[in-house]
Amino acid sequence: MASIQQPELNERLAAILAISQKMNSQRDLSSLLDLIAREATSLLDCERASIFLLDRERNELWSKVALGSDEILRFDARRGIAGNTALTGNTINVRDAYSDPRFYNAIDDQTGYRTRTVLAVAVRNQHGEIIGAFETLNKRSGTFSARDEESLIALASHAAVAIETAQLIGELRRNQDELTQQNAHLWREVENRYATHGIIGTGQRIQQIVRLVERIRDSVVNVLITGESGTGKELIAKALHYNSPRARRPFVALNCAALPETLLESELFGIEKGVATGVDSRLGQFQKADGGTLFLDEIGDLSLTAQAKILRVLQERVLERVGGRHSISVDVRLLAATNKDLEAEISKGAFREDLYYRIKVIHVHMPPLREIREEIPLLANHFLTEYCRETARSLAFAPEVMRKLVSAPWPGNVRQLRNEVMRLAACARLNLIQEEDLWEGTANAGREQLAIQPVKLQSLKKAVIEMEQRMITEALRETRNNQQQAARLLGLSRQGLINKMKRYAIAG
Ligand SMILES: Nc1ncnc2c1ncn2[C@@H]1O[C@H](COP(=O)(O)OP(=O)(O)OP(=O)(O)O)[C@@H](O)[C@H]1O
Ligand SMILES: [Mg+2]
Repeated sequence: MASIQQPELNERLAAILAISQKMNSQRDLSSLLDLIAREATSLLDCERASIFLLDRERNELWSKVALGSDEILRFDARRGIAGNTALTGNTINVRDAYSDPRFYNAIDDQTGYRTRTVLAVAVRNQHGEIIGAFETLNKRSGTFSARDEESLIALASHAAVAIETAQLIGELRRNQDELTQQNAHLWREVENRYATHGIIGTGQRIQQIVRLVERIRDSVVNVLITGESGTGKELIAKALHYNSPRARRPFVALNCAALPETLLESELFGIEKGVATGVDSRLGQFQKADGGTLFLDEIGDLSLTAQAKILRVLQERVLERVGGRHSISVDVRLLAATNKDLEAEISKGAFREDLYYRIKVIHVHMPPLREIREEIPLLANHFLTEYCRETARSLAFAPEVMRKLVSAPWPGNVRQLRNEVMRLAACARLNLIQEEDLWEGTANAGREQLAIQPVKLQSLKKAVIEMEQRMITEALRETRNNQQQAARLLGLSRQGLINKMKRYAIAG
């Protein structure tokens, strides 16, 4: 390799540095590849230059067909001089292309170009991995020199950094576009789900509530929602939020009963950094809900101290974080729910009257299910349809089952009805949910007992598992361990049955 004169070397290095700066300001991959090609052609005084990027998955090289075009040329990486460089990492300097066996003349045929001399160097990233090949064609006078080789290697290493950055940015942009689209899609889902019509019920009492939600949709008054457990208080709170001008701001729900008194203040108002050793600053729920809605569930369980603090935020629209010295202004719509009789609490001195009037600008009372039995068929079918959609099954209630559902006591209200429908659907042997299915889930219950027992939420999954185990064992016994027949009885594929037997360790 001929040694390079010092002044010339400096000149080239300066040129490469200048090119590198230009490259780093180009974030779009396609324009960047154009820029690199253009600069390399003038630096090496040749006719053409291309960067080929290696697609490791397909073992192909790709590059832009020509400067300024977005057309892509792709070919097998085991072909041609650039491919050889990309796979071996070797620099290849060819003085007569057509007499070199590595030369792949199909590209010339495709582009109508006549290659004479070729210089190809590997493009490596910071970790030394080859990401492609940099190829220059047809030195204007003579052949590519050792100096050209060094220059192209130096240029390639700068190009690699710029290319990887541009690729990363391109990927981030694509991800961001995808997320934006997904987000828009989720918003539509949320809006559909909580549009007033997510509240099922055609009777007068539910319809009155639906109309009220619609009537106050443009206002942001505080609303108190009362009703027994499982009557749909949170459903109404969400419907109020997602139908309001604040719909695209946060809906933050906080269960006051679940918080110990000591944590409540920092949870609601946040905490300043350094209040105690190792404590980072944290946003409180009020600030998280800024511009949106804060739903205080079980507000009747708040201590008098906490009530006083919330009242202050509602009156003055400012709050102070725990350990903070400044007031922070917040704009929050408050929705509150309780299953307690707040007026009785007031007369016992357990709830502040002034807070009560602040939160109860509008009062919505959710009726217990036993008072709106006429809604049960509609609700039960709605939950069954939901189950069928999720599991791609098709199920219906037998009339006597529906009669039982309508007359059951439902102490856990709509939530309990929903859980019961899900349990029945999961246990149903046939497409029609029959009376005997009502008895199945409560394994120890005597037949004289009403099937619909209050089902604890956490036990639902267990109940379904137990039911599956029993049904599988029974089906296997009935069919004398014929898995094909047992699977058919259970409405499962044979593999589905085998999977379940494995999961539950049931011997076949
Ligand atoms: N009218 C209704 N239409 C459709 N679904 C309903 C209706 N009422 C309640 N639900 C459903 O019943 C379940 C319980 O409702 P939700 O959580 O709103 O009750 P809650 O009053 O907040 O209960 P808790 O006091 O126990 O917190 C939810 O799945 C909800 O979607
Ligand atoms: Mg609730």
